[in-house]
Amino acid sequence: MLFKHIKANQEVSDQEFDLVYPGHIRKISELHFTSVKVAKAASEYLSEKSKSVLDIGAGAGKFCMIGSVWGQGRYVGVEQRSSLCDIANSVIERYQLEQVDMVNTNITDVPFRDFKAFYFFNSFHENICTSDAIDHTIPFGITLYQEYSVYVKEQLDVMPTGTRLVTYHSYLRELPNSYVLKHSAFGNHLKFWERR
Ligand SMILES: C[S@@+](CC[C@H](N)C(=O)[O-])C[C@H]1O[C@@H](n2cnc3c(N)ncnc32)[C@H](O)[C@@H]1O
Repeated sequence: MLFKHIKANQEVSDQEFDLVYPGHIRKISELHFTSVKVAKAASEYLSEKSKSVLDIGAGAGKFCMIGSVWGQGRYVGVEQRSSLCDIANSVIERYQLEQVDMVNTNITDVPFRDFKAFYFFNSFHENICTSDAIDHTIPFGITLYQEYSVYVKEQLDVMPTGTRLVTYHSYLRELPNSYVLKHSAFGNHLKFWERR
C-alpha cells in the first residue's frame, strides 16, 4: 500500500515511509536519507527527459525507491556499504519494486555514460566530517573526498547536452562549469541543473 499511496500522490510522511526499515536505519534516516517530498520533486525533474537515473551514493535506497514509483524509468542506486544495499534489496523484494536496482560498489567503479540523469545528496560529506558518519565501517579522509568529487565531476562533464542533475545540500565540488542552474527549491538546498 505504501508505494501505491506514493504513486497515487497521497500524503506519505517520512515516519510512515521509514517503517520499511529496521530500527537502527530509521534512526539515521532524517539526517542521511532524502525525504519523501524532496525525492518526489527531484525524481519528477530527473525522469521527465530520462529513462535511467543514477543515485550517486544511494544509502538504503530511499530516494531510488520513491523515484521509481513516482517518476518514470529505471532508478539505479550505487552504494558502497553492503549492509545498506542488503537492507534496500530486502525492501525492494518485499514490495516487489520493479524499476529499481541497487549496486554495491564504489562510485569510482561506475561509468556514468550508462545513465541519463543523476542525483547527488552530498554523499562524500562524511569524509570531511566524520562526526556525521553513518558508521565507521569504511575508510574516510580528505584524499577520498577529493578523489570521489573529482571522479563525479569528470564523469558529469563528459555527459551530453541536456543531461539533468539534481544536487541536495551539496557543496558543489562535484559540479562541472558545464551545468546550468535551472531552479532551486527547499530553501535553495535542492538544485536542478542541466548540462549546456
Ligand atoms: C547522504 S547518504 C544519501 C543516501 C540516498 N542518496 C538518499 O538520498 O536517500 C550518502 C550515501 O552515499 C554513500 N557513499 C559515500 N561515498 C560513496 C562512494 N564513494 N561510493 C558509493 N557510495 C558512497 C554512503 O555510504 C551513504 O550511504
